[in-house]
Amino acid sequence: MELAIEALSLQKRYAEVQAVAGINLQIARGEYFGMLGPNGAGKTTTVAMIYCFLPIEGGELYVLDMDVRKQARAIKARLGVVPQENNLDEELTVLENLLIYASYFGIDRQTATKRALAQLEFFELTAKQHVDVEALSGGMKRRLTIARAMMNEPDILILDEPTTGLDPEARHYIWQHLKQLKKTGLTLLLTTHYLEEASQLCDRIVVLDEGRILEEGQPAALITQHVGATVIEATLPQREHDSLLQTVQALLNGYMVIGETLYLHPGYNITTVLAKVQEHSKVETLTQRPANLEDVFLKLTGRRFGGA
Ligand SMILES: Nc1ncnc2c1ncn2[C@@H]1O[C@H](COP(=O)(O)OP(=O)(O)OP(=O)(O)O)[C@@H](O)[C@H]1O
Ligand SMILES: [Mg+2]
Repeated sequence: MELAIEALSLQKRYAEVQAVAGINLQIARGEYFGMLGPNGAGKTTTVAMIYCFLPIEGGELYVLDMDVRKQARAIKARLGVVPQENNLDEELTVLENLLIYASYFGIDRQTATKRALAQLEFFELTAKQHVDVEALSGGMKRRLTIARAMMNEPDILILDEPTTGLDPEARHYIWQHLKQLKKTGLTLLLTTHYLEEASQLCDRIVVLDEGRILEEGQPAALITQHVGATVIEATLPQREHDSLLQTVQALLNGYMVIGETLYLHPGYNITTVLAKVQEHSKVETLTQRPANLEDVFLKLTGRRFGGA
């Protein structure tokens, strides 16, 4: 397997915060890889070390077989980066943003113009090419930032929370574009706290929390392994939880509790578990739904993904 990115015991600390606490990563070329984690998990710190913006502190880090400590310039030339904060030049037009960015890579004007027009076409921004960036919608700005990151024809595209703050439609639209780029053999590394984004786009993910990797695998496989196909949610007063659990626990793969809600993982015993829950007189609401990565996170940390 040819690796795009390899991290060994990677570490970074800010004063008293151990932002990245010794993580190991192996990302194959052509893979779409996701780093999933709540606020403060260490996602931005990790990717910023990968794109040679922050120096690494401990461990080793190789990008396209080059050492970030020694070959930062050569690495940067082969990466496209979409940072978490928008850093487009709002006063310039869409096209000018792309051309100026290309000039940082020493790309000649003619090639740059050709690439810029092709990127604008791909990201459906051609009609906006002469418009100032400040007049674009949030979704268009994000598409433009991705187009800009593609100007140097990178081998690896790094996206730090590419759809945070966008509405669901704009988010889906970006997913479509990113999915199309997979055919070109591009390697994609994205961070996200949208579990659906990871499920939709990523071949493989790591779940990061407090600077450590909690779990790694294919999204669907992680769900099957930790939770099973289905989750039954039952709400009832906390003092009644034990009496319900007594009747179903032997039938479950596992369960989680948040407040008044019990999240039951019935495995293959869905019908039997549902019947037992329905029989319990104190159950107030009962729903059955497909398991998702949120359930995995909850199982791994005892917390909801969005925070404590
Ligand atoms: N420049 C800094 N100085 C001090 N502490 C920092 C700095 N940047 C990040 N941290 C801390 O390091 C930890 C990891 O932060 P990081 O930004 O990497 O997390 P993240 O997963 O990207 O979070 P978010 O989802 O909020 O973007 C957090 O505890 C954060 O407060
Ligand atoms: Mg971040």
